[in-house]
Amino acid sequence: MSNRMPVNRRGLLLGGAATSLLAACGGGGGGGSYSSGGGTSSSSSSSSSASGPTLPDPSTAPALKTHFAANFKIGMAADASTATQALSNAILVKHASSITAENAMKANPIGVSEGVYDYSQADALVTYCQTNGIALRGHNLVWHATAPAWFFAGNTADPTYKATVRARLEKYITDVVTHFKGKVYCWDVVNECTSDDSSSNYRTASPWYTALGPDYIEYALRAARAADPTVQLFINDYSTEDTSKRGRLMAIVADLQAKGVPLDGIGHQLHLSITSTTAAAVDAALADVEAKGLINHVTELDISIYSDPGSCYSSGSGCAAQVTAGSQAYYTALQSQALLYRALYNAFAKRASVKSVTTWGVADNHTWLNGFPITRTNYPLLFDTSGNPKSAFWAVVDATFVP
Ligand code: XIL
Repeated sequence: MSNRMPVNRRGLLLGGAATSLLAACGGGGGGGSYSSGGGTSSSSSSSSSASGPTLPDPSTAPALKTHFAANFKIGMAADASTATQALSNAILVKHASSITAENAMKANPIGVSEGVYDYSQADALVTYCQTNGIALRGHNLVWHATAPAWFFAGNTADPTYKATVRARLEKYITDVVTHFKGKVYCWDVVNECTSDDSSSNYRTASPWYTALGPDYIEYALRAARAADPTVQLFINDYSTEDTSKRGRLMAIVADLQAKGVPLDGIGHQLHLSITSTTAAAVDAALADVEAKGLINHVTELDISIYSDPGSCYSSGSGCAAQVTAGSQAYYTALQSQALLYRALYNAFAKRASVKSVTTWGVADNHTWLNGFPITRTNYPLLFDTSGNPKSAFWAVVDATFVP
């Protein structure tokens, strides 16, 4: 829709960090050894199988929202067009207690022009959630990748320019938060405001930063709180499991807290790969947020089966080759994925500060990772392309299952 198509954005901006992150981390992540005595699976042992483990009957799958009811909401990203498809609908109705709009609540499409809004897709999702008794996360109000040009129109040399842009931002947030008042339980008010390198704490390659400097974050959070005194307010970002990026985010948070700016929690996107991180690294991020007195939400979890070098993100080169479904490499990747998913959910469940855990999608038939960082079929979620629970699902809900 614009020259800010998000599909390329992360590659351009993540490059350096991705290189170090993906290269530095080992695979699997906190897996340990697992008993095979559970009886739900007659799996052959782990990686030597050419067909993968035998999975339990899908009809015996426990509902995730019930399994984790004492711990956190179970969320999935979907827009109304996805949610209402039979495959997604069945999974959402059974397993989800939260939905995040994959795209429908972003400033593009909502912010058509100053004071003109298109709520059609978002309202369809509100209706779907209300019909099915599923809570809704608001995502998102301010993001460099969906920042319509009208916000920034005008002469930047004009002494009133900053005040004009600030007023547009505050009006947009006031109107949108008011529209969804009582319909969403939280907002990702600011998305991806942290720098990927040490040149700054802030993402400077953002039209918001260019126009207003770092203060746009404070303006946005204060406007959201003023419009809805009870909705929970989040800053959401990726690579929070990376200690240096997290250090920059925590410095931003400390500055906001010192100024008394309203902020309830941090969203950890957790767009991971089977070799990019460990559950221990993620747990350290949860601990740092807790130490600030904030809530943790896992907002966009998916685990790519590909281990790509940084060049894949920055220039699309050197990306891992397409893996064929049913091949040995496929099953080996799904096994690593299952072990990492298990270790992560175990870590989430141990922390009372984790209130919501969302996967970025419903099932492998629809995932943004089929187009990012390159076009390639990926299998990053808990349910397969037919909507059946994968090894990863069983690893999460059954400690005795051998992926
Ligand atoms: C993605 C959607 O999944 C895609 O459909 C869209 O083309 C681009 O945005 N971080 C975020 C999400 O905060 O909003 C992004 O969603 C994925 C990365």
